[in-house]
Amino acid sequence: MRFFARFKRYFSRQKLLPPPPRETGAAAPWPPAPVAATARNAFQSAVSPEPAWLKYPVTPPKGHIIVFANEKGGVGKSMSAFHTCIALCNAGESVAALDVDLRQLTLHRALWARLESATEYGVKLPGPEQIMLAQQNESELEEKLRMARIRHSFIIIDVGGHDSPIARRAIFMADTIVTPVNDSFIDLDMLGRIDPRSGEFKTLGNFARLVEHLKEPGLAIRPKPLDWVVMQNRSRSLGTKNEIKVREALEKIAPVAGFRLVPGLRERVTYRELFPQGLTLFDLEMLPQLGRMQPQAREEIWAMLRALRLPSEALNRAIE
Ligand SMILES: Nc1ncnc2c1ncn2[C@@H]1O[C@H](COP(=O)(O)OP(=O)(O)O)[C@@H](O)[C@H]1O
Ligand SMILES: [Mg+2]
Repeated sequence: MRFFARFKRYFSRQKLLPPPPRETGAAAPWPPAPVAATARNAFQSAVSPEPAWLKYPVTPPKGHIIVFANEKGGVGKSMSAFHTCIALCNAGESVAALDVDLRQLTLHRALWARLESATEYGVKLPGPEQIMLAQQNESELEEKLRMARIRHSFIIIDVGGHDSPIARRAIFMADTIVTPVNDSFIDLDMLGRIDPRSGEFKTLGNFARLVEHLKEPGLAIRPKPLDWVVMQNRSRSLGTKNEIKVREALEKIAPVAGFRLVPGLRERVTYRELFPQGLTLFDLEMLPQLGRMQPQAREEIWAMLRALRLPSEALNRAIE
């Protein structure tokens, strides 16, 4: 019975479709007239026919890749990656987050905590698509980034504090590299060496050499030039002797290494308290029971985002 019902339904549906177009004009002659041999069709018959998709221009990758990297731990890579990621999500951008720091997964943990906080407090907190690496190798990273670039406007990558093939591949694919540094001369060694007595620039550091190598023309086909930003992060107090000395040293290294120097997030207890819950100061507008938004901190986050010069109209309008 059921079979006949389906059979009837099938035929009644067929009637709803328009009838096939009738053939008009005289029937095509048989056998068809031979095609005059030209160089072009001789070539076409020699090779396989051109596939249809080749006739359309290939869409260039859309997503802007921002890589937070420095071969130094504890400088605030994950913290600034998280803030940039959430700011872009709040601005309504489509964002993907990827953690290449596979031993710590700090960025992913903060984002998972964000999902838990949203459920616990009963609020809607915008967040990115989290991309996990199952095989944890460079080809998987490249493949996932290629797909993410089609679906999202921004891809945020947090890279671990040590050199590895997968970290290099992430840096290689970046449109913007953000390197947070702390106010310490030892931190600067990875970027360049400055003579402590004369204050003269001596040589480039290992990380600067790596970026220089990855920037080499011909190595990567870049639709836009790579922007390398070094961010002075976790400053305890502005205008101290040490902070000024570190900034002066960075300003000497910058033109040789090819980075821009920008201000980052200052050392604040609020950041440290909110981070494990997957929250930023901007979420406090929705969660006033957790504290108040500090205007100075808001200005600081906006200054950091402005300095990154990200290609997001929505974000740039919000932080003007
Ligand atoms: N601006 C800041 N103010 C206060 N604490 C910070 C700040 N940036 C980072 N931290 C804290 O310092 C530690 C290391 O930061 P993290 O972002 O994980 O560094 P990295 O990723 O470079 O290793 C974390 O406990 C984090 O909460
Ligand atoms: Mg980290």
